[in-house]
Amino acid sequence: MSDVILKVENVTKNFGGVSAVRNCSLEVKRGVITGLIGPNGAGKTTLFNIITGFLKPNEGHIYFKNEEITGLEPHEIFHKGLFRTFQISRDYGEMSVLENLLVIPTNQIGEKLLNAWFRNKFVKTQEKKNIEKAMDILNFIDLYDKRDIQAKYLSGGEKKLLEIGRMMMVDIDMVLLDEPGAGVPPNLQGKILDHIQRLSKDRGMSLFIVEHDMDIIMNICEKIIVMNEGTKLAEGTPDEIKNNQKVVEAYLGKPD
Ligand SMILES: Nc1ncnc2c1ncn2[C@@H]1O[C@H](COP(=O)(O)OP(=O)(O)OP(=O)(O)O)[C@@H](O)[C@H]1O
Ligand SMILES: [Mg+2]
Repeated sequence: MSDVILKVENVTKNFGGVSAVRNCSLEVKRGVITGLIGPNGAGKTTLFNIITGFLKPNEGHIYFKNEEITGLEPHEIFHKGLFRTFQISRDYGEMSVLENLLVIPTNQIGEKLLNAWFRNKFVKTQEKKNIEKAMDILNFIDLYDKRDIQAKYLSGGEKKLLEIGRMMMVDIDMVLLDEPGAGVPPNLQGKILDHIQRLSKDRGMSLFIVEHDMDIIMNICEKIIVMNEGTKLAEGTPDEIKNNQKVVEAYLGKPD
């Protein structure tokens, strides 16, 4: 099995006159947590959207598990085992916490079918096994007592825990997380990070994380990739990145 799970090759994305991503190439290793950092506007979220099929690149190629996925639809990419979070949509917000876990196995193939009537029928016919698994996960993420409330009423941090629960319901190989720590109170943040690390350690999942909080990045990432002005500026271990002059300049601006 190849050591590389995700490969981005010469990707460019223009929005009108703005090049959000420019000739960007990078590789992400299998089974570890990789951080993606860079100043505001560096192109990180745009790159995540391209990798997961929510945006089409103007140029370049994306390979996942050695297979080209450039231009595939998000649900096709999801079914290949690559998932993007955090993005509980309004549809899911109307569902209970438990239902949110139960619909994940068909996530995105039948979203349009998930009106109230169909949803109830669908959830009722779920195998017992799935429900038992969901209950275990609810205990694990400490949302068991809230299983019957609508997901939209969860706090920001609890929503993120629920997203982690949804990842645990399916066998996915890789998850892209955009700012998992943002807006989460410190007590929940530790828990979320703990769960993220366990997804990597216990389940061998590959994680690729955009995060502005440097403490989080330096603590949980084995490797860090730095983007600036739409392209890769540097990569290395947390220590190498901390001491990289180009990275310091990108964040602080060049001294005059
Ligand atoms: N849909 C869009 N239309 C036009 N410009 C866009 C669009 N999406 C992103 N951009 C521009 O592309 C650039 C990269 O944006 P992106 O959101 O990818 O940055 P980012 O690295 O995620 O930043 P942040 O750290 O602030 O979240 C920015 O200049 C942004 O204004
Ligand atoms: Mg962003």
